[in-house]
Formats: sequence, structure tokens, C-alpha cells
Amino acid sequence: MVKSQTTEAINGPKTRAVVLISGGGSNLQAFIDQITVGNLELDISLVISNVATAHGLERAKLAGIKQTCIDHTQYVNRSEFDQALMTRIDQEEPNLIILAGFMRILTSEFVNHYANRLVNIHPSLLPKFTGINTHQRAIDAGEQWHGASIHFVIPELDAGPVILQGRLPVLPKDTAEQLQQRIHKIEHQLYPLAIKWFSQGRLEVRGDKVLLDGEISEHQLQTFDL
Ligand code: GRF
Repeated sequence: MVKSQTTEAINGPKTRAVVLISGGGSNLQAFIDQITVGNLELDISLVISNVATAHGLERAKLAGIKQTCIDHTQYVNRSEFDQALMTRIDQEEPNLIILAGFMRILTSEFVNHYANRLVNIHPSLLPKFTGINTHQRAIDAGEQWHGASIHFVIPELDAGPVILQGRLPVLPKDTAEQLQQRIHKIEHQLYPLAIKWFSQGRLEVRGDKVLLDGEISEHQLQTFDL
């Protein structure tokens, strides 16, 4: 059983997070917006992108958040890149590392180093549709529901204990793009909520499950009508 925060951290300073991105950063923006309106107590101390042109870096800059690029193409292999990432992340002494559209597979060494404080959002109702092109694959499979999952990261790709999922109906005429856009909207509501639960110390990893306030809660699967 692993609590997401110590009691001291709950009553003390805010959760300090490093956010990793590769692209648009709309989920990062959702955190920034919720922090700004006072709905989320979170100190984003650094945003790291592996892509220098990622729009999310601009979003961070505009919000006054420190940001940097660590370009994976400058490293001889995955392990060297992950080492560089870890070194930079650890300088911030974060209690939480948030993957928000970070399009690199991470080594076990990296993942284990941040066990129970590394979270990801994946655009499917895990365990369905790990990997890429999830929206098209959900349509092709004739799924009634599609959605997004926020989970603690383990070395196995797109696995790990699920914190929160949101789902919406797949419409008969949906294209992958339309579905993706609607899923994005629910991601922007759910990811800040999951981070809020983490920062409030309300999450507990027990085996392959995440408990909210000590139990499996219906709040952990939300249905949207978009
Ligand atoms: C999201 O759809 C997320 O599910 C996936 O990558 C996308 C990131 O979007 N992991 P953004 O960069 O936050 O706009």
C-alpha cells in the first residue's frame, strides 16, 4: 500500500511537479488554468519537452513557468536520454512527474526511479487500445464507448494502476479526428482532477488498483455526453 503523499506533505507545501510534454500542451494548459482559478494546488516547477518546437513550451513561458528542451535526438540511446531527463528532473526535487502528451517510451530504470509518483494520460479506456491510433482503432472495433485513462506508470507500456477514466459514446458517424477532439475535452477535465486527488493525498496504490479515500470509488469512472 503506497500513499500518494505523506501527511507532512499534505499539511505542508504544495505538491511540486515536473511536467513532460512533446507537443501542443493542451493538458498542461488545463493544469495552468485550474491553478489560476484556484481549483488546483500545484507548483509546476518545470516543463520539459523533448521537441524544441512544442507549443506547450510557449504555454509554459506565458504562464511564467520554467521550461526547457531536452532533445532525444542528441543522445546515443534511450538510456542516455532518460539519464539526462532524470538528472534534470531531480534538480527540482519534485514529488510528482506528469506525462502530458510525452511521446517517448521510458526505460524501466526511469519508471522505477519515480515509482508511484509518475502519472500518464492515455487516450483510451485501458486496458483497451494501448499504443497509438487509439481513436481509429476504437471506431474500427465498433466500440460503443471510448475515452481516456489517467494511470500511474509502470515499466509495461500504457499499463499501471488506473486513477481515473472518462468515457463518452462513439457516435455512428464519428471520424477519428472528431472522436479525438471530444476525448481531448474530457481529458482537460479529468487530468487536473486526478492531479488534485494526488496533491490532496487521497490516492493509494494497492496492487494493481488505485483507491480514492481508501476505496474503489464510482468517481473513478466518469461518463460524459459530448
Ligand atoms: C493527449 O491526447 C493525451 O491523451 C496523449 O497525448 C495527447 C496530448 O495532448 N497522451 P496535449 O499535448 O496535451 O494537447
